Amino acid sequence: MQPDSPVKNLFREDVSLSAPFTVSELPHKAKLDQNEAPFDLPNDIKMALLDKLLEYQWNRYPQPSVYMEVKEAFAKSIGYAPENIIITIGADQLIQAAYLIAGGHDRKALIFEPTYPMFAHAAKFNQTNVDRTQLAAGETVTKDHINAADHNIIFIVAPNNPTGLMPEEGAIEAALAKNSLVFVDESYFDYSKKTWAHLLKDNPNLFIARSASKSCLAGIRLGYGIGHPDVISAMESTLTAPYHLSYLQLTVAKYFNFIQSHLKNLAVTIIFERDRITNQLKGMGVPYIPSQGNFVLFKVANPSDVYRKLAESGVRVRSLHSIPGLSDYVRVTVGKDKENDLFIKQLKGILAS
Ligand SMILES: Cc1ncc(COP(=O)(O)O)c(C=O)c1O
Repeated sequence: MQPDSPVKNLFREDVSLSAPFTVSELPHKAKLDQNEAPFDLPNDIKMALLDKLLEYQWNRYPQPSVYMEVKEAFAKSIGYAPENIIITIGADQLIQAAYLIAGGHDRKALIFEPTYPMFAHAAKFNQTNVDRTQLAAGETVTKDHINAADHNIIFIVAPNNPTGLMPEEGAIEAALAKNSLVFVDESYFDYSKKTWAHLLKDNPNLFIARSASKSCLAGIRLGYGIGHPDVISAMESTLTAPYHLSYLQLTVAKYFNFIQSHLKNLAVTIIFERDRITNQLKGMGVPYIPSQGNFVLFKVANPSDVYRKLAESGVRVRSLHSIPGLSDYVRVTVGKDKENDLFIKQLKGILAS
């Protein structure tokens, strides 16, 4: 918003904030900038889901019983009890829900940066104070970072975006010992295969957030959380449940079992391609951070130059040079084999020139 906007005085001060991040929409040959899956769902799966979508009456609100029915089916497909599950419009809505139930005026959250910018951004528009602990690019959250100060919410991202690093063993347990809602973001679980959900039994303050955006469903906007039934109910009551999801999200969640084997195969391909990218970077002498996600953070002497030249050659990556701690880094999302080949070829050329 411009400082001289005629409506500026209508808004809260924090509404004048700019967007948490922007993305380039320039033409491209390889789209490796947003941690999406590079493959769409096969048409037969999409058609089967569309058939199910047609069964609903689009002129009607999805009644509470529909959400409950969907939760039942979705929870079964991922192996949890429905009372432990909330389904949302992406993991972003889970971050918002966490602030709505445990943040707010006179309350404080703990965030470890660099990380996904929405944790800090959502704190602002939820008027929640934050302690932003700054880590170096290759550094991860340890139990020593979970300091003596009290926080109403502790956000730990596992693996972290954009570093790809897991927290040190014991860090999440140390956070759980505190009187805080511990929000463990497992958005990249399909690639890391590591979860803390088993700690839920003894730790009602644990909340796990997952996103389907990294696994072929970014365009559907689907996320889910796993937590204590009272945390789930509190979150559901703050979102406009039972109407916060459309029949599209509800259908995809209800028939998630149609997609699961495809996602398993996708993860195998992506992990193989991730290793291929890091081996190539190693061969080129480019330092990188070993990643548990579907992306790799690598270090170059002139990141804005590298970003610009890659973009000019049609390879879209994420420039992070303005983020504290990441001034020398660029993030590449793992794409299709040909996209990854193009990225490596262009990067080689740029670094040699
Ligand atoms: C760590 C992390 N959490 C949450 C999200 C948001 O996910 P969604 O697209 O499901 O809202 C992202 C997206 O990049 C992310 O990297």
